[in-house]
Amino acid sequence: MSMKQHPTWLALEQHHLEIQNTHLRELFASSPTRGTDFSLEAAGLYLDYSKNRVSEKTLELLFALARASNLEPKREAMFMGEKINTTENRAVLHTALRAARDADVRVDGVNVIPEVYKVLDKMAAFAEQIRAGTWLGHTGKPIKNIVNIGIGGSDLGPVMAYKALGFYSSRGLTFRFVSNVDSTDFVENTRDLEPEETLFIVCSKTFTTQETMTNANTARAWALAALKDEAAISRHFVAVSTNAAAVAKFGIDTANMFGFWDWVGGRYSMTSAVGLSLMIAIGQNHYTQMLEGFRSMDTHFRTAPLEQNMPVILGLLGVWYNNFFGAASHAVLPYDHYLTYFSAYLQQLDMESNGKSTTLSGSRTDYQTGQIIWGQPGTNGQHAFYQLIHQGTKLIPCDFIAFSKSLNPRSNHHELLLANVFAQSQALAFGKTPEEVATDGVKPELIPHKVFEGNKPSNTILSSSLTPFSLGALVALYEHKVFVQGVIWEVNSFDQWGVELGKVLAQTIAPQLLEGQAAPTQQDSSTSTLIAKCQSQKF
Ligand code: F6P
Repeated sequence: MSMKQHPTWLALEQHHLEIQNTHLRELFASSPTRGTDFSLEAAGLYLDYSKNRVSEKTLELLFALARASNLEPKREAMFMGEKINTTENRAVLHTALRAARDADVRVDGVNVIPEVYKVLDKMAAFAEQIRAGTWLGHTGKPIKNIVNIGIGGSDLGPVMAYKALGFYSSRGLTFRFVSNVDSTDFVENTRDLEPEETLFIVCSKTFTTQETMTNANTARAWALAALKDEAAISRHFVAVSTNAAAVAKFGIDTANMFGFWDWVGGRYSMTSAVGLSLMIAIGQNHYTQMLEGFRSMDTHFRTAPLEQNMPVILGLLGVWYNNFFGAASHAVLPYDHYLTYFSAYLQQLDMESNGKSTTLSGSRTDYQTGQIIWGQPGTNGQHAFYQLIHQGTKLIPCDFIAFSKSLNPRSNHHELLLANVFAQSQALAFGKTPEEVATDGVKPELIPHKVFEGNKPSNTILSSSLTPFSLGALVALYEHKVFVQGVIWEVNSFDQWGVELGKVLAQTIAPQLLEGQAAPTQQDSSTSTLIAKCQSQKF
């Protein structure tokens, strides 16, 4: 039976009809304590979800839906290492990457924690050598530049976290992240670097990803052109991968490889060895604090009752808007300049996980699944796309993320920043009625233009300051939110078959571009014309 036929879903549909026209103004007026009643704290994060179009009854029904979807046993199955990624027959254990050193987490009967710590310790020793300047390049110079080559989960986690924790990073080292197969990415990121002082981290779970391998080969040629000795590779290239054979074949000494395991999904790999560049940047202590933030949210998610469970509440609110209000997208709006890449990171985490239309049992869903995740930091968005959120025709639930203290306080900047984030959620929720606009002395013909309908839902996530711990808690919050939604929608949040077809087709097109032609029978008429057009413009 489709989840849509379940009595809890039908009850939510009925309830939606009752509540859809209720305004947040009414909900707040009827309960003076709503702002605290609909809030909770976990892992150092405060969540205010009062500005959502929900009543106590809505939440009861959403929790009932979660229970009907077996969320609690499914959550435990993940933490216990059961092979819940059924299409790839894999466990899903990113939570083991940040478990305590004395934890016992088993895959096929084997405790994986000792291996996790073996890699973490190896990363820490290597990171310390780079930071201390004792890891020398081929010509005896210390490494000053670290270039992470990877894509998707092997890029977005490291670059997001490196930018997010820039305040804590070693300023004497330069970090670059090359992901795009467009050679401009490599060229622009290396043009000012000295090969003798540059270390490449080739980061790829599979070590077969076309973009990463192409960039890695270019990096190799770039390094060898200057260093002129194959022996230099072992001082200037390390690998992060699950595929030792491919790493060795590329020419990287597997002694310089930092491993992880098939039970870590690419987009869930930020706390695996994929975080090597970050550990070099912020050092072992800060990295450990970040893992503790992840662990604190993991423990909260695993143990808190659904009614007081932050990822569960965020996940269910997303389902409420996606499936009952028809909201196609969800904006994540951090009011912290360090979180520049946070929304991009969440795009992969969420959209690659839940952008599915086939259920775990193989049938097509008859309801909407993953939302379109988008956003960018802070007040810049206010002067760009917020207009549409406030007065457009689409319902776009928002998550605002803010920190009470600035890491770089200057005069009243931070008060202004916080005033803006609180003002935005207030304006979205309560709006401005025609009567209120009229009392401002606005000309009658302009009144409709200046009305804010309000009733636009948002969450506000507040923490005291952006630290490695709070970043860890924040990322884990969203990882588990995605899990909750995947369970409700009955999809496998841990595979990504939808990325395969394009990869295969590109392999047939690339040689035709090189040869300069495609036989009409080899491609559709659009693609073969595009190939021919390219060729004619090239020469
Ligand atoms: O193409 C999608 C994907 O498989 C992601 O899931 C993954 O994060 C990315 O490619 C990179 O994969 P790899 O780490 O194996 O190079």
